[in-house]
Amino acid sequence: MPCTVIAGGFWGDEGKGKIISYLVLKDPVDVCVRTGSVNAAHTIWYKGKRYALHMVPGGFVNEKCRLLVGPGTNVHVAQFFKEVEETGVKNRIGVDSQASIIEEKHSDQDKSSVHLKGLGTTGWGVGPAIEERVRRTAKLAKDISELKPYLTDVSQEANSAIAKGKNVLLEGTQGLMLSLFYGTYPYVTSRDTSASAICSEAGVGPTKIDNVLVVFKAFMTRVGTGPLPGEISKEEAQKRGWFETAAGTGRDRRSAPFNFELAKRTVTINGATQVAVTKLDCVYPKCKSVKAFGELPKEARQFIGEIEKQTGTPVVLIGTGPDALDIVDRRT
Ligand code: IMP
Ligand code: MG
Repeated sequence: MPCTVIAGGFWGDEGKGKIISYLVLKDPVDVCVRTGSVNAAHTIWYKGKRYALHMVPGGFVNEKCRLLVGPGTNVHVAQFFKEVEETGVKNRIGVDSQASIIEEKHSDQDKSSVHLKGLGTTGWGVGPAIEERVRRTAKLAKDISELKPYLTDVSQEANSAIAKGKNVLLEGTQGLMLSLFYGTYPYVTSRDTSASAICSEAGVGPTKIDNVLVVFKAFMTRVGTGPLPGEISKEEAQKRGWFETAAGTGRDRRSAPFNFELAKRTVTINGATQVAVTKLDCVYPKCKSVKAFGELPKEARQFIGEIEKQTGTPVVLIGTGPDALDIVDRRT
């Protein structure tokens, strides 16, 4: 800390939710800002319950943490209220007045577009909602009466917390390979997903950032269409224990082995200072629930060493199981 950006390394679903929940439980995080939109779901396990959060920041698991939805986001009002209720965060969440609103018509436009269907979008309508924002005809949070009690200036809150030396987490969504600028265009989402964009969506300048933590999974997955280097069949994925379905849409996730070339590019574009690797136990089952680096099997330690060597960046957090505390924490 004090100001850390969390960005996805591949095509989203790297386990950012798990890393965020670990960080906010372990470190006293004061402010957590969510960016992106409703298409991305962060899976969080907390007190034995699974949450798939599309709007509320994953930092909600720390009950002292102020939760903010940034000005660069797209707010789905019904989903926001559903999650606020589910997580019980009514008294500590704020939405930036200038966040834009995603409506039912955007979802209809997304689902009825042959082009967007071909890209395998989530169907939430984020692309059409952003189009409308760019046309400057979108509704903003300040235009929605039910949101009035939640309205705030997120960039002012985040910057004043940083100035006071508080710990602030800027929570990215998806991954660099889905970035509108750096991903596998046109098979990408409708926004930039890099660390710089996360800062921009939250209203925090680059000089205020202390850490950029890029999260990779120990293997790669993607949902929707578009290239996935080294892709294996569903049967093979099931055999290896890599088969997953999407937290948000329930679709099958395609999978492939970890790609060092892509990881290098991701670390460079994000300006990563630290790397986290999740689901190491899915690739090396003997890692399950291990919490000390020295207790990981040799091949697993070599794999982590190879990531560090090729990306030139320390792997500080390693996920070894679904529980928030199933983590090897190598930070000093
Ligand atoms: P859209 O963001 O709904 O327009 O979908 C564009 C592409 O991004 C599709 O391939 C989606 O599957 C993918 N995508 C969007 N959000 C996520 C996410 O949170 N995790 C994984 N893939 C996503
Ligand atoms: Mg996800």
